[in-house]
Amino acid sequence: MNVLVLGGGGREHAIAWKISQGKECTRLFAMPGNPGTARIGQNLAGSPKDFALVKKAVLDNNVDMVVVGPEDPLVGGLGDFFAEDPDLKDVLFVGPGSKGAALEGSKEFAKQFMQRHGIPTAAFRSFTAGTIDEADRFLESLKAPYVLKADGLAAGKGVLICQSLDQAKEELRNMLGGKFGSAGNTVVIEEFLSGIEVSMFILTDGKDYLLLPEAKDYKRIGEGDTGLNTGGMGAVSPVPFVTDDFKNKVRERIILPTLKGLQEEGIPYKGFIFLGLMNCGGDPYVIEYNVRMGDPETEAVMTRIDSDLLHHLKMCALGRLSEEKIIVSDHSALTVVCVSGGYPESYKKGIEIKGNAFSAPDANIFHMGTALSLDGKLVTSGGRVLAITSGSRQSNAVRAIEEGRETCYKEAEGIEFQGKYFRKDIGLDIIRYIEEG
Ligand code: AMP
Ligand code: GLY
Repeated sequence: MNVLVLGGGGREHAIAWKISQGKECTRLFAMPGNPGTARIGQNLAGSPKDFALVKKAVLDNNVDMVVVGPEDPLVGGLGDFFAEDPDLKDVLFVGPGSKGAALEGSKEFAKQFMQRHGIPTAAFRSFTAGTIDEADRFLESLKAPYVLKADGLAAGKGVLICQSLDQAKEELRNMLGGKFGSAGNTVVIEEFLSGIEVSMFILTDGKDYLLLPEAKDYKRIGEGDTGLNTGGMGAVSPVPFVTDDFKNKVRERIILPTLKGLQEEGIPYKGFIFLGLMNCGGDPYVIEYNVRMGDPETEAVMTRIDSDLLHHLKMCALGRLSEEKIIVSDHSALTVVCVSGGYPESYKKGIEIKGNAFSAPDANIFHMGTALSLDGKLVTSGGRVLAITSGSRQSNAVRAIEEGRETCYKEAEGIEFQGKYFRKDIGLDIIRYIEEG
């Protein structure tokens, strides 16, 4: 099979890497890809948001299957475009249509969907500029901290957690006033959930699903979970509190009602669903749905899948996932993200990267924000630059994380670029959690 992966970050590098090991993989393309995907396949210039260009790439290269990494082409209707175009309708496509993608594209839709189907999530209401007085009253009825969410896609920045009522009211006005552009025309205000977050993932054909390994993400820039929010600074899989009992609760209370809800509402769905969950005293609540995999979680998750992901994706697109079984390895995986100095605020690009940035004996190095300069040097091209992932087969869970940390940090130290930063505490909270029982 010829496969095209859309996107160009660490998530897509990791997905492409796993697909490249598939028995049926003939040719592998990535659009736009990055210097990492160029080592395992062929990069095609262009943006996945340019549907005409994606179509041309598919037809020119006899692509049999398209796998979509990021959410925005899906929210923009790429899935519908493929389903409706006579030249493309036989091409296998992994990703929902725009109706399914609204689970991520509209927080209001997602919250109402959960409410309709009895899926546990924080209590909420949504407001517009015309209902700002009601919004104030709703805020007054809640306790601090206050959670405000722009309804639409805001590049991962549309969620604000405010510590005081005054700040919440001010931010509400900023959001409705255009702080996040039209994404903030509607604002969802919700109850604050306290607990530990975990990312869980399924691949579904709308009827059946495969449960992928779960992962913990490290969202803040600073050690000890301090400072600004980022796209994610590291990941660990497995997560010790995701026991069989917790998984059963997620299956019964969240996954099955989500799939049933999609069916009842006539929304076909073939693709990944990322469940951003809060574990509140052993009970899972949905913080958000994403219609894609997480980054950097994917880098850890892919290294734990022992079965043939390409085959799973093909059977997903064919609507035959009931015939598939995923094999998850019992080894652990740990990912450390090296970022540009200044990230998540402004940072420089085009800085030369030296050291072992392509492969290491005991680690996978996934490219998140790199490029080749005109004279062929590897340079930085984004805030998050490289995701170093290492696994361990140690049966002792603490020792396994320690081993992953040793390998990842050895590689992270060995990579050089001016301004390089990474968190040194990835996995330490999990070790503490295990040791404290
Ligand atoms: P999101 O962009 O929806 O992933 O939200 C960003 C982050 O805000 C989440 O990862 C959580 O850490 C936090 N968050 C979102 N909603 C809530 C909530 N209702 N209670 C507590 N934290 C939340
Ligand atoms: N790492 C979180 C996300 O991909 O949204």
